[in-house]
Amino acid sequence: MIEMKNLVKKYGGKVVFSNFSLSIQQSSIVGLYGRSGSGKTTLLNLIGGLDLPDSGDILVNHKKLTKSLSELADYRRTYLGIIPQSFALLNFKSAFYNIALPLIGKAGKEEIEKEIEILSEKLEINTLLKDRPTELSAGERQRVAIARAVITKPAVILADEPTSALDETTQSIIKDLFLQEQNRGCTIIFSSHNKTFGEFADKIIQLP
Ligand SMILES: Nc1ncnc2c1ncn2[C@@H]1O[C@H](COP(=O)(O)OP(=O)(O)OP(=O)(O)O)[C@@H](O)[C@H]1O
Ligand SMILES: [Mg+2]
Repeated sequence: MIEMKNLVKKYGGKVVFSNFSLSIQQSSIVGLYGRSGSGKTTLLNLIGGLDLPDSGDILVNHKKLTKSLSELADYRRTYLGIIPQSFALLNFKSAFYNIALPLIGKAGKEEIEKEIEILSEKLEINTLLKDRPTELSAGERQRVAIARAVITKPAVILADEPTSALDETTQSIIKDLFLQEQNRGCTIIFSSHNKTFGEFADKIIQLP
């Protein structure tokens, strides 16, 4: 369960959140909607411990998120799968390596290969695993970033416009993947501009 209580977030003089509260149940899918600049990425960054609120609290399973950067890094590593709006892939490494990265040191080679095989087939990127991100299309890169986020079977997935570069057929593959993740107990918070994509969400939050 994730609770945001009276969050205030400003950048210089610009107020993004003046008093924002939201409760998200475990295993639910929540869609964040709102115009460009409304604060979707900011909110996902706050939940992901990638940015800190000016005031207010974020509680995950009734525990306040710390302000310690190393503890936040641990929280991300053990708890979250993050799909950044910009994908944030390593361009000098293969798609395979990018997807494997969060499991390196945590799982054996065979297990990693098996997981990547299953996931890459589902996401239809199995023939591209040797390629570097610079050799891939935007939609292919986006699916590599999605695979990297879900491969650890995280408790929470934070997905910032995860289908922005995808056609409708591929969007429905992502929807199925998210529903499958939800079935194993994962909580998913995504942002989107696409209302049709959000129809499967349990809750839609419209940012002003
Ligand atoms: N690091 C920053 N420094 C200053 N202002 C920022 C910073 N990050 C975001 N902002 C401002 O905060 C507001 C919210 O930005 P945010 O990126 O959260 O919007 P968004 O809803 O994700 O937009 P988009 O749909 O374009 O991705 C914007 O007005 C933006 O200019
Ligand atoms: Mg954004």
